[in-house]
Amino acid sequence: MLITKIYKTEEIDKAADELRKGELIAFPTETVYGLGADATNEQAVKRVYLAKGRPSDNPLIVTVSSFEMMKQYVDDISEDAQKLIRHFWPGSLTLIFKIKPGSLSKAVTGGLETAAFRMPDNSVTRNLIDLAGVPLVGPSANSSGKPSPTTAKHVFHDLEGRIAGIVDDGPTTVGVESTILDMSSEVPAILRPGAVLGEEIEQLLGKKILFDRHKVGKTETPKAPGMKYKHYAPDAQVLIVKHEDWQAALEWAKNRAESVGVMALKADLGVNLPNNCIFYDLGTDIHTASQRLFAGLRYFDNEQAVNWILAAAFPEKDLGAAYMNRLRKSAGDSFFENSKLS
Ligand code: TXA
Ligand code: MG
Repeated sequence: MLITKIYKTEEIDKAADELRKGELIAFPTETVYGLGADATNEQAVKRVYLAKGRPSDNPLIVTVSSFEMMKQYVDDISEDAQKLIRHFWPGSLTLIFKIKPGSLSKAVTGGLETAAFRMPDNSVTRNLIDLAGVPLVGPSANSSGKPSPTTAKHVFHDLEGRIAGIVDDGPTTVGVESTILDMSSEVPAILRPGAVLGEEIEQLLGKKILFDRHKVGKTETPKAPGMKYKHYAPDAQVLIVKHEDWQAALEWAKNRAESVGVMALKADLGVNLPNNCIFYDLGTDIHTASQRLFAGLRYFDNEQAVNWILAAAFPEKDLGAAYMNRLRKSAGDSFFENSKLS
């Protein structure tokens, strides 16, 4: 067992030393915490899969601190891609490109001819990458299958003893992972919705892109390999509650013998919460709800041990598409009204 150190943002030089030695260091971003390892060190990258319990065919994002750093791996960066980078980097947009053959190890790409690149909107992490002098692989720093971590404490809970350290920069601001846009296909396609919206991308490029490629049928292989696995699932069963169903849902909760977790905006609920319900406040709007979603799921698992979590639905547009994409997965797509409740 390793001793997992918590580094303050002033101590990133020490964290960078560990990365150069091939150790694993979790880092903050604006979306969720990432699990960093030297992307050019195959042994270090392999240990990321072990630490997370991640299936080895699920490729990793390459986290860079500059456009120059990415150009070491990609030859053909279209005019459109350059526009996107100028406008959205650093930020919550991950771009997939064909890479120079052999420039990244199979451990990073999962054997694909493409790789995903992202420059996070967090200067501490960009400095960490500069100090390490290499790009870092950066999957979310959770145990595979669990909600993504939005605080250093979440990372510590999942990965203590498995990684050398965590750089703590407080809670993340966006809360859901980056938008993934495939630039290696004829028409750019969104593989995972995030805070950078498809509509914003279309507006910037002045052309249509493909949406909803993350919603594939059961027999198709998802384009983002990670999307086929169970995801974001707490131990409790999550039920998604539409705005108009809260009264019925709380009535159902009230008649249960055990405690029930409730994640919602205060405005959703109207009056009194039954005594056996434990409230987790999602704040005031879709932005605060996205920021707090994963923390709420973890709160009910790690601090309350409830069997059921009722969680507020949002309209599936704008940031709501990203929020609902994660919430649907965490609930196995169960909604309050159509679940078979006993
Ligand atoms: O916001 C984020 O993107 C966070 C922070 C830490 O940067 N990272 C993150 O990484 O969410 P991860 O590994 O949890 O999710 C990356 C997703 C996976 O579903 C993976 O299958 C997909 O990106 N992916 C990676 N490389 C790919 C490629 N070449 N083609 C298609 N999908 C790819
Ligand atoms: Mg992840």
